[in-house]
Amino acid sequence: MNLINKTEKTFALTTPLYYVNDVPHVGSAYTTMAADVIARFQRLLGNQVLLITGTDEHGQKIQRSAANLGKEPQEFCDEISQSFFSLWQLLNIKYDRFIRTTDTRHEAIVKEFFDRVWQAGDIYQGQQKGWYCVSCEEFKEERELLEGNRCPIHTNKEVEWRDEQNYFFRLSKYQTQLQELYASQPDFIQPASRRNEVLNFVNQGLQDFSISRVNLDWGFPVPVDPKHTLYVWFDALLGYVTALLDPDAEPTLANALAKWWPMNLHLIGKDILRFHAVYWPAMLMSAGVSLPQQVFGHGFLTKDGQKMGKSLGNTLNPIELVERYGSDAVRYYFLKEIEFGKDGDFNEVRFINVLNADLANDLGNLLNRTLNMVKKYCGGNVPSIAHETIPADNPLKAIGLSLGEKVKNAYEMLAFNQACTEILLLAQACNKFIDEQAPWTLYKQGQQQQLAQVLYAVLESVRLAAYLLSPVIPNISSDIYQQLGFGINFNDQLEVANAAPFSVHATWGVLSDKQQLGTPQPIFKRIELPKNN
Ligand code: MSP
Repeated sequence: MNLINKTEKTFALTTPLYYVNDVPHVGSAYTTMAADVIARFQRLLGNQVLLITGTDEHGQKIQRSAANLGKEPQEFCDEISQSFFSLWQLLNIKYDRFIRTTDTRHEAIVKEFFDRVWQAGDIYQGQQKGWYCVSCEEFKEERELLEGNRCPIHTNKEVEWRDEQNYFFRLSKYQTQLQELYASQPDFIQPASRRNEVLNFVNQGLQDFSISRVNLDWGFPVPVDPKHTLYVWFDALLGYVTALLDPDAEPTLANALAKWWPMNLHLIGKDILRFHAVYWPAMLMSAGVSLPQQVFGHGFLTKDGQKMGKSLGNTLNPIELVERYGSDAVRYYFLKEIEFGKDGDFNEVRFINVLNADLANDLGNLLNRTLNMVKKYCGGNVPSIAHETIPADNPLKAIGLSLGEKVKNAYEMLAFNQACTEILLLAQACNKFIDEQAPWTLYKQGQQQQLAQVLYAVLESVRLAAYLLSPVIPNISSDIYQQLGFGINFNDQLEVANAAPFSVHATWGVLSDKQQLGTPQPIFKRIELPKNN
């Protein structure tokens, strides 16, 4: 099964648009890091990529958060959205568009879309009665609630009773069409567990949902009745469309949808699956807009085995983490150690051990010791070996020849942990190969040809590993490439676009004696475990 079905040379994907009720935590960073890895991988494949991220700034939750601090909502949103910008710089996220739902152009898109849905006869007025969780910005079924009328997601928050006139979207009308969509496009919702969740929910029968609020003014007015404010989710999902507008384009749906639509992938956490896999496609069907290709719902991060949350006081501050360990380390841990789609844990000791084992030892030491041997035994030049002359049963060549394809498949399936593990196997095989072949002995015995073959095979394998890991650890990969004499900085989109294609760099046998090796320098410094551990 191929999760990403690419037929054209463009690839557009989104992170959720983050609520600005508070500064980002590591959960928001997790989705964005994964999205950035996908975007970088797609760029390596030579595709034109549009990575969209941004902030969701309307609704009661934001209005209340601003009021609690005695600030105007817009001023508050400006401040908090800035902290998302800064974190994405720190984490080395190369997004293409950052959409804020308070952008003026967004209102025009929302109005036009609303009008289409209105014309389709899918909006009507009714009475909304029910329990509302302001933190989720969602009505909850009575049977979902925990003791004391608490929200199952925000377990320390009580839901609020609402009984008001709202505008409704006729979701029930799209029940059959949605079921047909899930049946005809089995990859539309991934992974399979999330797909089943949605199927169960939809098969129980869909109810219309309210898309306006009264007694709330922080949001867009409902175009046909400005006394009502549009429900934040109706406006937020459309942020993905507004983000597609070129910077100087007129804000019309036609302009927004012209180049990048349909979107290839919406990357989200499991708590907002219904909005993306049920409400959103139904809204698009109503407006006569084609559907995105895929919605992928990843799991939740826990810390030391416990759900991360403000109420438990165990949130992980991504800024501190990056400042202490660097962006590559943080990206690597979350993508290598957690199966994307499943819940995953952060534990600092484990974090340090994984980085030391994989990046400092298996990869970093390997490069360093090999470059030093090349310096000592081969005059500091890439051994002059034609890779075709290395026998097919050379263990590194045997792994290297099929690695590119394997890793490509893993990235395409969003199995980041599998991609990293496969690549690390090559690095581990290199270390074993050096120990077995003992280049220092070959040198003493004057077996120069054999020695040259061993060192070439190892250097080439490190190069391949660095290339294939570059979506995850672009800084380290760039350093390795530079030490191997390649002028590619994986953080520079132009250099990546102009470099030889994936089909060339992802094969084994690319390194040649024309490459001028650089000075050996450690690429990842071993981290000391904190004293109290
Ligand atoms: N504003 C909406 C999304 C609108 S998209 C049109 C929203 N924002 S959010 O800031 O609350 O959440 C954004 C994302 O962060 C969600 O995908 C959510 O799953 C993710 N995470 C929040 N906490 C998380 C963890 N502890 N672990 C992993 N991801 C989690 O929902």
